[in-house]
Amino acid sequence: MTDAILQYRERGLLTLQLNRPDKKNALTRAMYTQLAEAFEQADADDAIRAVLIQGSSACFTAGNDISDFLQQPPSSLDSPPFHFMQSLLNCRKPVVAAVAGAAVGIGTTLLLHCDLVYVSRDARLRMPFVNLGLCPEFGSSLILPRLLGHAKAAELLLLGEGFSGEQAAAWGIATEALASGEAALAKAREMATRFEDLAPGAVQVTKQLMRSVDREQLRRVIEEEGALFTQRLRSPEAVAALSAFITRR
Ligand code: COA
Repeated sequence: MTDAILQYRERGLLTLQLNRPDKKNALTRAMYTQLAEAFEQADADDAIRAVLIQGSSACFTAGNDISDFLQQPPSSLDSPPFHFMQSLLNCRKPVVAAVAGAAVGIGTTLLLHCDLVYVSRDARLRMPFVNLGLCPEFGSSLILPRLLGHAKAAELLLLGEGFSGEQAAAWGIATEALASGEAALAKAREMATRFEDLAPGAVQVTKQLMRSVDREQLRRVIEEEGALFTQRLRSPEAVAALSAFITRR
């Protein structure tokens, strides 16, 4: 376990903190694997009532590490990013996210699979997949048009337009927007600890019911997106855009 993912356990709450500040918490293959293992352990441990995922009060995550995308692009549905997202999707315990600063790419996508999401009003969310020669991932091409309507989702997914924490809350992507990053982290922690006083069986059955309606369709879409995403990572369009980020300085 490196310290790029910090884990704290306080009573029934497991907190997973992204901690790679020099790279804006960009997620490496090792970080995905650590997160996946932590989610799987939390799911199997009866004493854990909820999982809180957060970055710092200044930055959630700049998304997938772009050097990793170029050097070791995920090639199959059991690669580390897929392993992580499957562990999040399969987690029966409630997952709470605290978001401040940038939440880019998978940093925004993963929020669609959390149960409660607290953001700072000025958080900057963005899914610049097309801008990087890529395509949406992990169900966002299904979930966002449903949530926002096609026309608004197209602005976010086809143009890669960024949006604020305040907009995320207004659109139902986040639960609530708070005045600052510190306030978002504090609120997320406060709400996550509530699960300690609730009957765990009832919480898990309710989450399962809320998630079960679209499960099969979501699984198919994620598979299709995953196949296209891994193909696109090797396309000249993506290689040029990802290389441009690395060499931009
Ligand atoms: N992968 C790898 N390194 C990244 C990264 C990523 N996704 N995002 C940021 N970094 C690195 C930068 O290269 C820089 O490293 P350096 O200081 O060694 O040069 C450092 O993190 C700080 O980033 P910087 O761009 O200077 O910070 P900023 O505050 O100006 O901007 C972001 C923050 C998140 C808006 C910007 O870094 C960004 O757009 N990152 C790419 C996001 C992205 O496209 N993710 C992939 C989606 S699929």
